[in-house]
Amino acid sequence: MNKKAIITSALPYANGEIHLGHVASTYLPADVTTRFLKLNGVEAYYVCASDDFGTPILIQSEKEGKTPAEYVAHWNKRDYDDFSAFNIEFDYFYKTSSPENIAFVQDVFKKLNDSGHIYEKEIIQFYCNNDEKFLPDRYVKGICPYCKAEDQYSDLCESCGRVPEEITDPKCSLCGATPTKEKTKHYFFKLKNFGDSLTKWLDEAPHLQKDVKKYVQNWIKSGLIDWDITRDIPWGVPVPLDGAEGKVFYGWFDNHLAYISTALKFLNDKGIDGKEFWNSADIYHFIGKDIVYHHYLFLPAMRLGIDSEYKLPDYIPTRGHLTLQSKKISKSRNWYIGLKQFLEFYPADYLRFYLISINPYSQDDLNFDWDDFTTRINSELIGNLGNFVNRALGFTKKAFDGKVPEHDSFDEKDLEAEQKIKNLASDVGTLMEQNHLDRALKKLMEFSSFFNQYFQHKEPWKKGPGTANCVYLSVNAARSMAIALFSFLPESSQKIWNQLGLDGKISSSSWNDMSLLGISSNHVLGDASPIFAKVEESDIEKHKSQLGPFE
Ligand code: 2FM
Ligand code: ZN
Repeated sequence: MNKKAIITSALPYANGEIHLGHVASTYLPADVTTRFLKLNGVEAYYVCASDDFGTPILIQSEKEGKTPAEYVAHWNKRDYDDFSAFNIEFDYFYKTSSPENIAFVQDVFKKLNDSGHIYEKEIIQFYCNNDEKFLPDRYVKGICPYCKAEDQYSDLCESCGRVPEEITDPKCSLCGATPTKEKTKHYFFKLKNFGDSLTKWLDEAPHLQKDVKKYVQNWIKSGLIDWDITRDIPWGVPVPLDGAEGKVFYGWFDNHLAYISTALKFLNDKGIDGKEFWNSADIYHFIGKDIVYHHYLFLPAMRLGIDSEYKLPDYIPTRGHLTLQSKKISKSRNWYIGLKQFLEFYPADYLRFYLISINPYSQDDLNFDWDDFTTRINSELIGNLGNFVNRALGFTKKAFDGKVPEHDSFDEKDLEAEQKIKNLASDVGTLMEQNHLDRALKKLMEFSSFFNQYFQHKEPWKKGPGTANCVYLSVNAARSMAIALFSFLPESSQKIWNQLGLDGKISSSSWNDMSLLGISSNHVLGDASPIFAKVEESDIEKHKSQLGPFE
């Protein structure tokens, strides 16, 4: 395992609140992975930033009577606060509109320009006479020329994932009118130049998901098109060239560069050589499948275009979209649950547990279902794990006054239990390293269920000869579970740690500690009480009725 890592997740637009869909595919998997790497002694930093530029943000700020800078400052803080309440622990959260990012983007552009990867071209741009605006990107909707899906934005087809060269049957998305076409000068990035080097990179990258690679390679085979990287709007990173006054970069030119500029700012401020660190670390970019095109083509091509001065990503963990009660999340239809709102009802760990359990390492969509949530929390988290911990600790309190008894020689069942503890770090760790967070959590639940059965089988309440061994091993298993649980459910794992009477922060443990029998006989436990409270079905019915209606 590389002992250095930089982890990023898709930068949230500073344009609305974080909802369950955001956290499921990117922020939560990235947070769990970072915690895992840190426990393994990796010098890992999770950096993120608000994605501040772009036309939608400009227009929305105007509607709200704020300057764009005021508007994004509001969402930057709110997003950060919501993430923190969900225990998404960034090492640094910054913004794409930072002076550091602006300077970095302009510098990258100049290098690309000097190396001949940029050219100027007069283009015909959609223009709405009603709104008196050029209509870039999201402001034009129409039919995707590739897959023929209707009602798609001109900058991204959500149905086939491609970026159309020119959308068919365009309409202004503000007023619905058919836009006219006007001339304007834009700058283009020669993406076409990078077909071979991107193919080589994809062929050689050992950790990228095979299925994603395959369809990106097919895109490359079907021909890349040069990329229009500027916009005629007053909010963005200014194009640093004479004659380009009033033009800014397209948000997708500058935003992913903030992965690098934010990491550099953070590392350099810490007294670490940021560039050196970046180039010797494993680089992870966690994303949802809707932005594969940008992360597998634009982002690597731009880094290749500056001679890989900053290395390309090693991992781009790409996951599917979250649906809600089997329907597409839609804010306008109120088919939507804000993260902040959810956390008013249930602890962060319930949502973390549920979302990790249903989220495979693949592009398959996942579904948030209130009934399934209730079942998984009540029967798996509480019925299995919570129950075991409470049983083991509660019994030790009651029968041994909280003091772990001296154990005897182990019988066959005890030896099996001991072996489970010894194997836990590698059983769960292997899956974590492969990004199969859901399977890793499942392994941990199997461990818990084994110990429930072990406890049941040993019947310590009968105070027979195997009682001391059962208590000793069960208390140790609870400790192992707490450590393994830390990446997934940080608050609950700390609670178990405290109830075990162990000192300090569980985050200072190391991953392999979970396979030691770290609690000795005569150790005195802390106070035991149930870690989790049941989800009530009557509440769930209320939550369901707050959604929609969905037409
Ligand atoms: O799709 C989005 O929400 C974008 N704001 C993601 C940006 S990720 C980037 F910075 F690479
Ligand atoms: Zn219009």
